[in-house]
Amino acid sequence: MTIGPNFASTEGEHLKLQHRLPVPDYRGAKFDLEVLVNNTIPDENVVRIAVDLACRAPSVHNSQPWQWRYADGQLDLYTERGRILTSTDPSGRQLVVSCGAALNHLQIALIALKWSTDIRRVPEGPHSGHLASIRFRHDARPQSHDFDLLAAIRHRHSDRRPFGPVSVQTPLPTTLAEVARHQDVHLTVLGQGTRPTLAKATELTAAARKYDSAYQAELHWWAGHSTSSGGIPSNALASGDNREGVAIGRRFPDGRDDNATTKIDHSTVLVLSTDTEGRGEWLRVGEALSAVLLESTVAGLATCPLTHMTELNQGREIIRELLPDGGFPQALVRVGVGEGKSPPRQTPRRPIESVFSMARRDPRR
Ligand SMILES: Cc1cc2nc3c(=O)[nH]c(=O)nc-3n(C[C@H](O)[C@H](O)[C@H](O)COP(=O)(O)O)c2cc1C
Repeated sequence: MTIGPNFASTEGEHLKLQHRLPVPDYRGAKFDLEVLVNNTIPDENVVRIAVDLACRAPSVHNSQPWQWRYADGQLDLYTERGRILTSTDPSGRQLVVSCGAALNHLQIALIALKWSTDIRRVPEGPHSGHLASIRFRHDARPQSHDFDLLAAIRHRHSDRRPFGPVSVQTPLPTTLAEVARHQDVHLTVLGQGTRPTLAKATELTAAARKYDSAYQAELHWWAGHSTSSGGIPSNALASGDNREGVAIGRRFPDGRDDNATTKIDHSTVLVLSTDTEGRGEWLRVGEALSAVLLESTVAGLATCPLTHMTELNQGREIIRELLPDGGFPQALVRVGVGEGKSPPRQTPRRPIESVFSMARRDPRR
């Protein structure tokens, strides 16, 4: 059986036909008829575009620790274990959070392309690197806010300079707690009175790591230069002056980002936390982190994730005490008014061929 111009000449006709036609027996057919009439199997190019956008997600030290495989109408997300930061993140918590951020970016990209997703998270159990199985339905009806979020994927970047305060003119989006709660993640907005405590947690963490040569080597390997395989380029790191204006930032090497009129950081700090610890929770934290960053970007705010305070027990304990219900602090986010005029400092990403693969469909299935 072949498919010619008489079968259906436009995509619209295909869609109409799929409701009227009896289901043919097309086993052994040369053409993949199922792909044409099935509204659960997106074209490979659609998946490739969505994965490409997903890979714009933030990741710890821009390590991009993900792999995507597409076959038989199912996309699978795996960790790339070789990209774990063994000194900074020995448990792989931030590796999984980074993959969760990419998963949320993927969903946003697909909605704009009119595909909704059914996601099974950690389908092979909590110890596996297989983080998600994604199936598709061609039934999404994107609203204008969905396109705003899509545009934010392109504009968002981590800004390490001092921010001006959120204000009545540029408030925090009211949806932030809700988008986090949607992932079973708590979002706490810290008051300005907590700044000295955050600075203390930062100081303690930096002091504990000053002579940790493995941590320092890892930091300098990933930050301050970048290659096509990842890392944070110098122009995305704050210059010495700008870094000093943000007492609660990770102590990266000095960078070249010196364009700032605000000298002292007046950002608002958010904490994402969970009730329990595990791969499923970390994946959800990444999804929530992505949603919070993109919603803030749509609102015209600058953002920067902060996790150094959650990496060592002392720092994590200090942050936990700032939370109304305790729990496990997973990531903090600085949000504020950035330097409007400066261009986005976008960090490079790995080529899509090195993170995305497609298996040929099995014609007998
Ligand atoms: C789990 C996680 C932890 C991160 N921790 C920090 C951090 O402690 N300090 C910081 O400045 N940026 C942090 N980032 C931001 C990354 O460095 C950033 O996403 C990456 O370099 C890519 O750049 P982009 O966000 O501008 O696209 C973190 C991001 C993620 C997802």
